[in-house]
Amino acid sequence: MQTEVVRVDRTKIDAYVMEKAGKILKSGGLVAFPTETVYGLGADALDWEAAKKIYAAKGRPSDNPLIVHIADIEALSKIVKEIPEAARKLSKAFWPGPLTMIFEKKECVPDGTTGGLSSVAVRMPSDEIALALIRQGGGYVAAPSANRSGRPSPTTAQHVYEDMEGVIPLILDGGAVEIGLESTIVDLTGSCPVVLRPGFISLEMLREVVQEVEMDKGLIAEDSSIPPKAPGMKYRHYAPRAELKIVEGEMERVVSYINKKAMEEPGVGIICTEETSKHYHAGLVKCIGSRREERSIANHLFAILREFDKEQVTRIYSESFESPGLGQAIMNRLLKAAGHQKVQV
Ligand code: TXA
Ligand code: MG
Repeated sequence: MQTEVVRVDRTKIDAYVMEKAGKILKSGGLVAFPTETVYGLGADALDWEAAKKIYAAKGRPSDNPLIVHIADIEALSKIVKEIPEAARKLSKAFWPGPLTMIFEKKECVPDGTTGGLSSVAVRMPSDEIALALIRQGGGYVAAPSANRSGRPSPTTAQHVYEDMEGVIPLILDGGAVEIGLESTIVDLTGSCPVVLRPGFISLEMLREVVQEVEMDKGLIAEDSSIPPKAPGMKYRHYAPRAELKIVEGEMERVVSYINKKAMEEPGVGIICTEETSKHYHAGLVKCIGSRREERSIANHLFAILREFDKEQVTRIYSESFESPGLGQAIMNRLLKAAGHQKVQV
């Protein structure tokens, strides 16, 4: 299959291109498209034969459910049994945007789309290209991140092309995404909303809207004694080919530990920040962004992991990025990429 990459200008969306993309979705095909978080791999969410193709294209385990993307709030009540008060408040505050909510599903959502679960994950993205595609595609687009399973999520159309060339007919290229980390997932099927995956919408932001919100215990547990509630969170993910280790501690000690390792070991890669980059004297140094602008760190994380795959490195040391805002989401992805390997210095 030939994979076409078509550039789409967000300020002047080409109706002809969107119509063509919508036709592919309606006839059961796949289209990759930008969202504000990461690129998605879309299929008609209410057509199980179509959604099945997503699993094949990604090499994704079939028990890992998909997020259904909608373009307007009216679409929600057609696929979920009940909209709890907390969900109404959260949707008012954060939709369209990087928040996914989990509800009890109605019959019309195929079991295949939800990995056999009785619940369904729903998100209304804010990206104009995504919204136009969802409308053209019938209103319900199932879309996981458009990477091969286990690879870092794609933040540019080029990343999607690397993973999906020859496998899907069309990639809509809207340039680099705005955020760079996948949406925050909140489960609303229980008595208290629970965060299943941290993202751009932090726990603090959620608590400003609904006072009671908890973190899934499976996310907090240091060991893997408690499995996470979102099936996808249990899989190895984002792992670069080289072994990745996260170094934690006071910044001066971190820099000196990594410097020592880079001088002793051959083929060392380093993930650092603008604040520290000039202090490294060996190894292949890549700057992820600035600690003063943590959005820049989120934005470059997946791209940097992909870049290291093209380099001759066998071990990567990364600084740690704990912070009250985006830090939780950044560290969640980085720890998964590192297979939870941490060094305390
Ligand atoms: O930002 C995003 O959410 C991106 C863009 C494309 O919208 N999508 C995305 O999808 O990250 P994916 O498939 O890579 O991750 C979806 C996560 C998985 O961890 C999956 O297990 C979880 O959502 N999930 C989906 N439906 C669920 C459900 N009913 N119950 C619990 N977890 C669910
Ligand atoms: Mg994913």
